[in-house]
Amino acid sequence: MDIAKIAEIEVDILLDAIKRRYDYDFSQYARSSLKRRINGLLIKEKLDMPYQLIPRILYDEQVFEKFLSEMSVTVTEMFRDESFFQQLQESVFPKLATYPFFKIWHAGCATGEEVYSLAILLQEAGLLGRAKIYATDYNNKSIDIAKQGIYSAENLKSHEKSYLKAGGQKNIFRLLHQKI
Ligand SMILES: C[S@@+](CC[C@H](N)C(=O)[O-])C[C@H]1O[C@@H](n2cnc3c(N)ncnc32)[C@H](O)[C@@H]1O
Repeated sequence: MDIAKIAEIEVDILLDAIKRRYDYDFSQYARSSLKRRINGLLIKEKLDMPYQLIPRILYDEQVFEKFLSEMSVTVTEMFRDESFFQQLQESVFPKLATYPFFKIWHAGCATGEEVYSLAILLQEAGLLGRAKIYATDYNNKSIDIAKQGIYSAENLKSHEKSYLKAGGQKNIFRLLHQKI
């Protein structure tokens, strides 16, 4: 059996170990990305083969945190998918407006930009007071940033464009820009 096939077995055992030790299930993660990301961690940890990660992850929660960070693709930005936010306002907000109270869950919120984007639009629609918003992510570093809700002013211009395209009505980004 060649070494690549053996590495596949090692990856399976590693995932099983993670599932049993930490109850995180990565078995459905796209296999090619999974292998690429495990390789990334091996390089950072100066290791050669996936099996070497098993004892480290089992005995050291900090190494598991590193694994989680490595597996987490944190690409996000304010009003990232403009058409999604537009559609949400056109089709979903009117329905939400018929409820006295509703809950929203951002599963995989990364550093929180999507959460605040939606909160801004809900506020503009007069619906924020009826909403309880949950935001979760397995990447604890991202969650810490999301909790703080402090973002760089560098990209305000492009965020402003996305905000307007997404149907934002108050031009808040221009206001923020003027303040800075
Ligand atoms: C590409 S980001 C997208 C962030 C945001 N939803 C957006 O669209 O702008 C995906 C995030 O989902 C998180 N994630 C992926 N699968 C997850 C899961 N099963 N449970 C919790 N978080 C998950 C990742 O850690 C990452 O931060």
